[in-house]
Amino acid sequence: MGPMSAGEAGTQGAGVAELRTRILLAALAVVSLSTVAVLLTPSPAQAEGASILRPASPNASEIRSLAFYVLLIVSGIFLVVEGLLIASIVRFRNRPESEVPQTHGNRRLETVWTLIPAILVIVIFALTVNTMQALDLPGGEVQVEVTGHQWWWEVRYPGTEAVVANEIHVPVQRGIGVTLTSADVIHSFWVPQIGGKTDLVPGHTNHTSFLAATPGRYHGECAEFCGLQHAGMRFWLVVEDAADFSAWLKHQAEPAAEPTDPQAVAGKEVFLSMPCGGCHAIRGTEARGNIAPDLTHVGSRLSLAAGTLDNTSENLRRWLRDPQAVKPGNKMPTPQLTNEQLDQLTAYLEGLE
Ligand code: CUA
Repeated sequence: MGPMSAGEAGTQGAGVAELRTRILLAALAVVSLSTVAVLLTPSPAQAEGASILRPASPNASEIRSLAFYVLLIVSGIFLVVEGLLIASIVRFRNRPESEVPQTHGNRRLETVWTLIPAILVIVIFALTVNTMQALDLPGGEVQVEVTGHQWWWEVRYPGTEAVVANEIHVPVQRGIGVTLTSADVIHSFWVPQIGGKTDLVPGHTNHTSFLAATPGRYHGECAEFCGLQHAGMRFWLVVEDAADFSAWLKHQAEPAAEPTDPQAVAGKEVFLSMPCGGCHAIRGTEARGNIAPDLTHVGSRLSLAAGTLDNTSENLRRWLRDPQAVKPGNKMPTPQLTNEQLDQLTAYLEGLE
């Protein structure tokens, strides 16, 4: 490279700076667009309608309103700050032979930009306290006890024998009180269309309450990272009329049905001859394990593997053949079963309605 004059070097420097600015702007545009795309892409749960924007309880409606006001305020902040930033970039951009006047300290400006955020924080705080008070329902007509496990939900109804997994039934338009604890690590109970999140903490009991306004099935999930299958720790909240709920609860409290089909009878033998009962209980048999889901009425449930599979015989068989292939890292060891035993066990378990 030959020697350059000062003028050439200056032009080249400006060219490089401009190129750098363009690359920076292009990168910024790509990042912004991909962020928007990610935000707008519904997750599988949202695709099922589980969005906080579609509330199905007074609790969720209150939370949605609060979210809306906060969004309004922060959008305003975003527009003002970005507007000032862009204006400054344009107005004070680097020009050849121009020195921007250097100023230090501006008491009025500093007072204003301290006061405005402080006022906004106070406003958001007041709105939040208001929402929290509205959410503090005297929920207690129906009590539910939920225990979080890696990676499934244990559900009990105090005063009854019913033990359910990954499915909570409640009557519509009644105050529901939920008591939450954990058997291992911290989890978080969340039904987006019904209310906010409440942590399940080992050695501690938390409470939440809600009232479900419309019958239906609502997607629930764990909202606190709790290990490998955190995303596979889901459940269904079934809101039904009072008569259906009572019938369901009465049935869930009963011991397991005795199988009659020969295939299922053989399946029961398989279950009881294997170590299954050390972890799982089937009420009415000698299987009394309590560290894995109670299977007394597993055939009646909507899902298998904590909301990750529909409860079909094909899925049940798939799960029993190799649970680790379906939900890697889960705590169920792979049962060593022949194809015949697999069919028998599937027949027995799906018959436990
Ligand atoms: Cu349990 Cu995340």
